[in-house]
Amino acid sequence: MPDATLQPLLDALKFSPDNLPLRLHVGGLLRQAGQHPQAEELYREGLRHHPTDPGLQLGLAEAYLALSKVSAAFVVVEEVLANHDDLGPAHLLHARLLHATQQPEAARDAYAQALRLDVGLADPTLAQELQASAPRRVPASGPNNPNEPKNFDQASILGLEKPRINFAEVGGMEAVKDEIRLKIIHPLHFPDLYKAYGKASGGGLLLYGPPGCGKTYLARATAGEVQASFLSVGIAEILDMWLGNSEKNLHQLFELARAQAPCVLFFDEVDALAANRHDLRQSAGRTVINQFLEELDGVSASNEGVLIMAATNAPWHLDPAFRRPGRFDKIVLVTPPDEAARASILEILLKGKPLAPSVNPAAVAARTAGLSGADLKAVVDGAVDTRLRESMRAGRPLPIEQSDLLGATQQVKPSTKEWFATARNYALYSNEGGLYDDILTYLGVKKPDGK
Ligand SMILES: Nc1ncnc2c1ncn2[C@@H]1O[C@H](COP(=O)(O)OP(=O)(O)OP(=O)(O)O)[C@@H](O)[C@H]1O
Ligand SMILES: [Mg+2]
Repeated sequence: MPDATLQPLLDALKFSPDNLPLRLHVGGLLRQAGQHPQAEELYREGLRHHPTDPGLQLGLAEAYLALSKVSAAFVVVEEVLANHDDLGPAHLLHARLLHATQQPEAARDAYAQALRLDVGLADPTLAQELQASAPRRVPASGPNNPNEPKNFDQASILGLEKPRINFAEVGGMEAVKDEIRLKIIHPLHFPDLYKAYGKASGGGLLLYGPPGCGKTYLARATAGEVQASFLSVGIAEILDMWLGNSEKNLHQLFELARAQAPCVLFFDEVDALAANRHDLRQSAGRTVINQFLEELDGVSASNEGVLIMAATNAPWHLDPAFRRPGRFDKIVLVTPPDEAARASILEILLKGKPLAPSVNPAAVAARTAGLSGADLKAVVDGAVDTRLRESMRAGRPLPIEQSDLLGATQQVKPSTKEWFATARNYALYSNEGGLYDDILTYLGVKKPDGK
C-alpha cells in the first residue's frame, strides 16, 4: 500500500495519466520506498501513453531488476540502448544487469561507458564489486596475450583506452624504459619478491622533463607494455570542470581505475594541482590535494593492479607531500629524444607521406640534436609546406625530398632550451636530496657517478 504522502500524487496521476514528468517523479518515489510492484505497474501504464519514452522504460527496467525479473529488464534496457546509445543511466543499468548475470568483462565496459557519458553516475559499490571480479594481477606475458579483452576499445571513457603502442614503438630512451620496468612493471609482476626485500609495490611514478619529449607517449606505451588499460586525466580538467566537486571526482576516477585493473592511471600536467591551489581558496585546494594523497595511499580501497603515473614540466611546483614514500616516490627525467629516438619519431611522422628515395630519417636525426618530438613534427610540417608550394607551382604532386627536411631543420630551434635554463637553476639551488641530479648529469654539470 502506498504511504500517505504518495497518495495525493497517485490521485493526481489518475486525473492526468498523460502527465509524464509527474509519472516519472512518482515512479521514482515508489521505487525509493521499495514499492517495486506498484512502480512496475505505474511505468507500464505510462508506456501505454508514451510507448518509447526512455525515462519510463528505464524506470520499468529498474523495477524489473529490483523484482529479480532480470531477463525482462535486459529486454527493456537493450531497447533503450538501441535508440539512445548516449544515455548514461541506461549504460549504468546495463552494467548492473551484466554484473548480476556474471558477465564481468561486459559489465566493466558498460560501467565505463556510463561514466564517460556522465561521471556523476559513479557508483562506488558497483565499482568495487566489478573490481573484485577483475583479474587480480597483470599477466606477466608478452604483447600477444590471448586473454586480452577484444572489445575494450568501446570503453573510450575520459581517455580510457587499451593502447596498442608498447615500448617497441618508443624510439631510444632505453634508460627511461629500464627505470619504468624496474620501478613499476616488475613490482607489479612480482609483488611477493619485492615484499621479501621490504619494498612496497605501490606508489606512483612521476615523469618530468621539457615539453614535447614523450612523457605522455611513454605513459601510454607503458600501459601497452603491460597489457593494461590506460586512463588519462588532465588534472586541470578535474579542477575546472567540476569545481567544488573535485574531491568526489578524484575519488570516482580512482574507483574507475580500480574497476578497470590492471590499469595505468595517468595524471597529465599534475603540477596544475599545485598551480591551481593559489587560484582556489587555499582550503578548497588543500582538500583536493588531501583527497588525491588519500587515494594514492589507497586509504579507502586497495590500488592493487593500478599503476599510477603522472607527468609534469614543473616538478618543483609540486607539493613535497606528493613525494613521500608510497606516493610519487619514483621520479624520472624524460630528456629530449636521443638520435635513435629521433630517427624513429621521424619515421613515424613521415609514414604515409609521399617520399622521394633520397629521404633518410637517420641522417636527419643525426643533425637534429636537442630537438623534441614536437620540434621534429615542426620539421616535418615545414618540409611538407615547402613541397606543397613546389607542387602548386609544378601543377602536380611532388614527393618530399631529403633537402626539404634538412632545410626545415634550419628553421626549427630546440624548444627545450628554455626549460633546461629554468631546470638548471632548480637543480643547482633547490636540489633537496639530489632530487634533480639527473638534470645536472644531462647538462654535464655533474658526472653520472655523482661526483
Ligand atoms: N621516444 C619516442 N619515440 C617515438 N615517438 C616519440 C618519442 N618521444 C616523443 N615522441 C613523439 O613526440 C610527440 C610528443 O610527445 P608527448 O606529447 O608525449 O610529449 P610530452 O613530454 O608529454 O610533452 P608535454 O610536456 O608538452 O605534455 C608524441 O606524440 C610522439 O609522437
Ligand atoms: Mg604531455
